[in-house]
Amino acid sequence: MLDLKMINCTLADGRTGMDIGITDGRIVVLQPHLIAEAEQVIDAEGQLVTPPFVDAHFHLDSTLSFGQPRVNESGTLLEGIALWGELKPLLTQEAVIERALAYCDWAVARGLLAIRSHVDVSDPRMLVVEALLEVRERVKPYIDLQLVAFPQDGLLRTPNGLSHLIRALDRGVEIVGGIPHFERTMTEGAESIRILCELAAERGLQVDMHCDETDDPLSRHIETLAFHTQRLGLQGRVVGSHLTSMHSMDNYYVSKLIPLIKEAGVAVIANPLINITLQGRHDTYPKRRGMTRVPELMAAGVDVAFGQDCVMDPWYSLGSGDMLEVAHMGLHVAQMTSQTAMRDCFHAVTTNAAKILGLEGYGIAVGAKADLVLLQAKSPMDAIRLRANRLMVIRAGRVIARSPALFSLLNIEDRPEKIIFNDR
Ligand code: FE2
Repeated sequence: MLDLKMINCTLADGRTGMDIGITDGRIVVLQPHLIAEAEQVIDAEGQLVTPPFVDAHFHLDSTLSFGQPRVNESGTLLEGIALWGELKPLLTQEAVIERALAYCDWAVARGLLAIRSHVDVSDPRMLVVEALLEVRERVKPYIDLQLVAFPQDGLLRTPNGLSHLIRALDRGVEIVGGIPHFERTMTEGAESIRILCELAAERGLQVDMHCDETDDPLSRHIETLAFHTQRLGLQGRVVGSHLTSMHSMDNYYVSKLIPLIKEAGVAVIANPLINITLQGRHDTYPKRRGMTRVPELMAAGVDVAFGQDCVMDPWYSLGSGDMLEVAHMGLHVAQMTSQTAMRDCFHAVTTNAAKILGLEGYGIAVGAKADLVLLQAKSPMDAIRLRANRLMVIRAGRVIARSPALFSLLNIEDRPEKIIFNDR
């Protein structure tokens, strides 16, 4: 007897009529026409069933703080950092925890069950670090939360920046972060990368660095990150996040750079919603889009994911934890409109992101964790087009969120199907 059986599922790879058998929180059978009985049966009615959404890049410490103590008037990264600096002395651990947990509730409702969050380690009080360590424990039953030690004010630019970051790692933050483009000089930025990569190598940790989040075509810290990754044997354990300067770089230089990134096994995370609004702010017209070169990186075989980055904070006043909204924006900004490219955008918020985060048991396969999302869509392309309704979110074989299906009440008698949004 199975715990749960989901029948008549369409999968992201195009298979239809698939049944999923679940026992003890794992997928134990995956086949059409599954006869075995189950305690609970869910009929997917031919809709798309996917593994959960994964956000490879987020800031859970600042989320939902929009308007505190004021809003970002210029819309730039630098004003956002200054504004966060104004807010930090006013934060309480309780308020950070409350906001982060509220966001996690939104995330669950959206089928977002794994998040890699950066946590600011520049403040010697370690208030936000302690807050997110507690949140990580509290959400464990339903969200896999990874934390990156992020020296927001600069590793070398902040007094005792390195010792604060090491304290955060000692407390249990598991990934080494960085922000080389915010150090005082290009040389100091490069030095920060060397120090941080050596620290990660010594401790056997991963690296996920904010890197070149600027429109400056000469901001080339990704080259240095790839170099130290290779020098220290960190291949497969390093991520360059944002990389927006690559948008503005000389094309010849990029033709050398992308193969270096691939050779070093560095993965890339782009944050389309944030970088389409933060970048190009000093341009008149034409205004640069500012997102890194996603299709070119993917074509070179680099692992690329999309992140949400910010929701209602000093950098971005919108957002809802909806990774389909992130994929939708990434698709538009990068003009990824072919059928294959649209599927790639879906992978950027699911399988690619899961691979970069190293999530165990992710996917729809026998032996995988029974973490699933039933979408009101028939294909990944449809899911992005509709930012599809999450009809059901399942964690370890248990339904943890539901949304009613969208349908029109008009002319309902005249239509063979009530659900008209995705029946073509
Ligand atoms: Fe970020």
